[in-house]
Amino acid sequence: MHSETSSVTSVLGRPYSPRVMNLLAKMTIQQKIGQLSQLSGNEGKISQSLEQRVKQGLVGSVINEVDPEIVKALQQLAIQHSPLGIPLLIGRDVIHGFKTIFPIPLGQAASWSPEWVEKAAKIAAQEASMVGINWTFAPMIDISRDPRWGRIAESLGEDPYLCSVLGNAMVKGFQGDDMSGAGAIAACAKHFAGYGAVESGRDYATTNIPEHELRNVYLPPFHAAAKTGVATFMASFSDLNGVPASGNAWLMKTILRDEWQFSGFVVSDWESISQLQIHGISANDRDSACQAFNAGIDMEMVSSTYHDHLHNLLDIQQVSPEELDASVAKILSLKEQLGLFDQPLQQIQKIPQYYQPDHLAVAKTLVQKSCVLLQNHQQRLPLAAKELSRIAVIGPLADDGYEQMGTWVFDGEAQQSVTCLDALRDYLPNDIHIDYASALETTRSTSTAGFAEAIKLTQQADVALLFLGEESILSGEAHCRADIGLPGAQQQLIEQLALTGTALVLIIMAGRPLTLEPIIDKVDSILYAWHPGTMAGPAITELLFGELSPSGKLPVTFPRKVGQIPIFYNHKHSGKPVSEAQFVYIDDIAIRSPQTSLGMASNHLDTHFTPLYEFGFGLSYSLIHYDNLSLNRSQIKSTEVLIVSVEIHNTGRYAVDEIAQLYVRDLVANVTRPVKELKQFTTIRLLPGQSKQVQFHLTADELGFYGRDMQFIVEAGQFHLWVGGSSATQLRTEFELLNG
Ligand code: NOJ
Repeated sequence: MHSETSSVTSVLGRPYSPRVMNLLAKMTIQQKIGQLSQLSGNEGKISQSLEQRVKQGLVGSVINEVDPEIVKALQQLAIQHSPLGIPLLIGRDVIHGFKTIFPIPLGQAASWSPEWVEKAAKIAAQEASMVGINWTFAPMIDISRDPRWGRIAESLGEDPYLCSVLGNAMVKGFQGDDMSGAGAIAACAKHFAGYGAVESGRDYATTNIPEHELRNVYLPPFHAAAKTGVATFMASFSDLNGVPASGNAWLMKTILRDEWQFSGFVVSDWESISQLQIHGISANDRDSACQAFNAGIDMEMVSSTYHDHLHNLLDIQQVSPEELDASVAKILSLKEQLGLFDQPLQQIQKIPQYYQPDHLAVAKTLVQKSCVLLQNHQQRLPLAAKELSRIAVIGPLADDGYEQMGTWVFDGEAQQSVTCLDALRDYLPNDIHIDYASALETTRSTSTAGFAEAIKLTQQADVALLFLGEESILSGEAHCRADIGLPGAQQQLIEQLALTGTALVLIIMAGRPLTLEPIIDKVDSILYAWHPGTMAGPAITELLFGELSPSGKLPVTFPRKVGQIPIFYNHKHSGKPVSEAQFVYIDDIAIRSPQTSLGMASNHLDTHFTPLYEFGFGLSYSLIHYDNLSLNRSQIKSTEVLIVSVEIHNTGRYAVDEIAQLYVRDLVANVTRPVKELKQFTTIRLLPGQSKQVQFHLTADELGFYGRDMQFIVEAGQFHLWVGGSSATQLRTEFELLNG
């Protein structure tokens, strides 16, 4: 805990501690501007210019410095040699682990487990804090409805509620209850806001999002993070409705400060302030600094428009000294909350201890919770070792410790990864023969030269395990794809292997949903493993051999074809929704059919209107059945709680962790509402043959939304309510929300 806990009320809009106020009183304008500047480290040495700026007290934060000795030296320069001894924020993208790498965030989201997501973030924070990192740029809570967008990998999927719950879990994991505690670091809710809606799924592109959609879909996870106490926000790179986020006062002031009362600070994205000029909204760097600062961006990441121009902007009264003080106070306040003034070097360890057994155990469990079983014909999985004598392990991702880690891994080490091939060899008794062929050099390879070997091994085997998908570099920031099928010659490989008649189990590692329709009837089982990280091997091996059942559910819709994108479960109904009865496939249309003969509904002619796999979907090795959905009442007042009960039965032979999902639809509302909206979920353990009753407690507030006048309203009226194992559940009841 910091020593000075009492606070004074300042002219800055909120109370700050005496330490912060004393420092503010002593700081020169240049030093204040320095606090708003984040400089890039040199990864391995301190450049002369950085050393000088830190010594002069002209730096608030350094990004991308991870050598504990260098970080220590930087902090010592700041504390012992700068005029006011203000410590530095040391920022790093610790996105899904620091050294121990957990599944990519989209994979973590498939666990639907705030408990395990929080555990992973806590470990990531602990490992990062050992080198002196005290600030991560996570969680990314951009709603992502477009799998072409490479950054979907870093997201928590398409649903505002799931994303809010898991984003909050990450914030709690990183920050702990007290940011000055050992192993805690500050989190950053990014990218504020709407970044996931970039046109055509191209990174950094424009977004145009109507305000009610912004408020009902894109903003809720950010609002939740602000309420949970996330320390910082990051502005998005993107243009929102004509005003790039880095210069968008409506977002940063009206929404974030005025409506949500957020008291932390906002950092720009990397050079996003100087990029305002490239967007075409500012004429030069000075103009960019002026717009960004007045919009409410407190700290500038890497570009130097604040350093170069804020002083002059103050002189000519285009920027107010009170606002400058407010930004500085927020930054100093975070440093205080992190305990940096009292023990700046406390967490830095000379020889940091990474990859602790308990860290690896959490990583393994989270992989197991995040894998989604998409298909399991003839109950091919789980495999029974005693029935096998020969296994073919095929594919470029079977034995690649680097690629299994996924995007945003700056600090993880491939040599620490346990690959699936390694783990299978370790797990299986010696009398089971394992043959391995990568078949393709990388997932993008188009050469079929390795096919003959793979076919031969598959022919000889009792079962072939195919480890295919996407390499890390094909997703993540600036790595978007227009065709999201299996890259290279992988589809061809599957087609050839299917001709052998050997049972095929496909394990996909990828940073996004892929369009799998062309290959689903060529393989028996599909286990979607995302990019699983360090512990992929043991985790997946145990799933394949039935040590436990897969339990992950999709946090995002899988399209059949790219042309369906954006496709998401919580779409609106439209005036002409399609139904099975109306749907006519292109090949079935009679020649010269009259224009209005095809049903006139909202669908494509050349693909079914449903997705390949819906949001919330995921199989297990068992059989799960829901019934007896009931409510404690059919009408509730806004002050009452609706108790929803449902029975869930495990009629199969395996123990299962089932994720039960509750959806509603508001039938008539002030603005059109989605056909289904996730409101709650819970995970229950069901042993073979076991049944349990599950209850959900739903309050009227959870049924509210932003209406035509952009106010949050809870409207009386009829609702449908479903519970089930995916968003396609048909188990439905209804209730009425009454006025008052
Ligand atoms: C750019 C990315 O958009 C952002 O997410 C990241 O945190 C910063 N760079 C810092 O690396």
